[in-house]
Amino acid sequence: MSDQIPEGVKRVKLWDIGLRLFHWSLAICVCAAWYLGQFGPNIMTLHFYVGYTVIALLVFRVVWGLVGPAPARFSHFIYGPATTARYVATLKDRKPSYWPGHNPVGALSVFALLAALIIQVSTGLFADPDDYINVGPLADMVSSETNRTATWVHNRVKWLILVLVLLHIAAIVFYKRYKGENLVTPMITGWKLVRQPKD
Ligand code: HEM
Ligand code: HEM
Repeated sequence: MSDQIPEGVKRVKLWDIGLRLFHWSLAICVCAAWYLGQFGPNIMTLHFYVGYTVIALLVFRVVWGLVGPAPARFSHFIYGPATTARYVATLKDRKPSYWPGHNPVGALSVFALLAALIIQVSTGLFADPDDYINVGPLADMVSSETNRTATWVHNRVKWLILVLVLLHIAAIVFYKRYKGENLVTPMITGWKLVRQPKD
């Protein structure tokens, strides 16, 4: 109801359909890739197919970050240290941020997640754990030293991804429970309550 919306705040269509489909597909595929990675040879083919889907999603996200609608563009959520510090100071306030996009702290986690996933898919392509089975599709193109490094990195960055995803979900719960701001529904419907710039 519009009379429940605080002054200076407006309900706007923030997240476009492309970004929302990207997000939920990515969440499903990253969990699937992580899970399927555990099972060795038999299910590794499925791990690769899901991994290729993650590659396609990341390519889409990079293109969308350059040419997509404003809230999805990388330039829209790159903030300087001063803005980030000011935002951090407001985190303790028990009220919604009504931020018109990814807030400065959320933006850092978005970049960290995307970077970790790019490293994970790139190293997966060149990984060869010397078992002649779980060999990345491009492993033959590089030296065995590079194969080993790629495998090592792939098997470490999986933990980084796990930690980042758990932090991501903890942040969403913090916003809901502590600050009383629901960020999940906007990622489903696209509509979010955002603060309007003062004119
Ligand atoms: C493996 C699991 C997940 C991954 C890899 C992931 C990744 C991401 C990424 C990359 C973004 C930034 C979107 C963009 O590209 O601009 C994002 C945003 C978001 N994610 Fe996830 N996500 C995952 C799971 C979840 C889950 C389970 C939830 C809900 C409980 C969730 C809720 C959100 C919300 C609400 C945002 C927008 C935050 C904001 O308003 O700034 N995500 N996620
Ligand atoms: C977000 C995407 C991905 C995630 C989360 C992920 C995760 C994992 C995990 C958890 C493992 C098991 C590591 C272990 O033995 O403990 C694994 C192994 C492996 N993955 Fe991925 N992976 C992803 C993408 C890819 C892609 C795109 C490829 C290549 C097409 C790939 C190729 C491999 C290979 C060759 C192994 C075997 C390495 C070994 O046995 O040491 N992965 N991955």
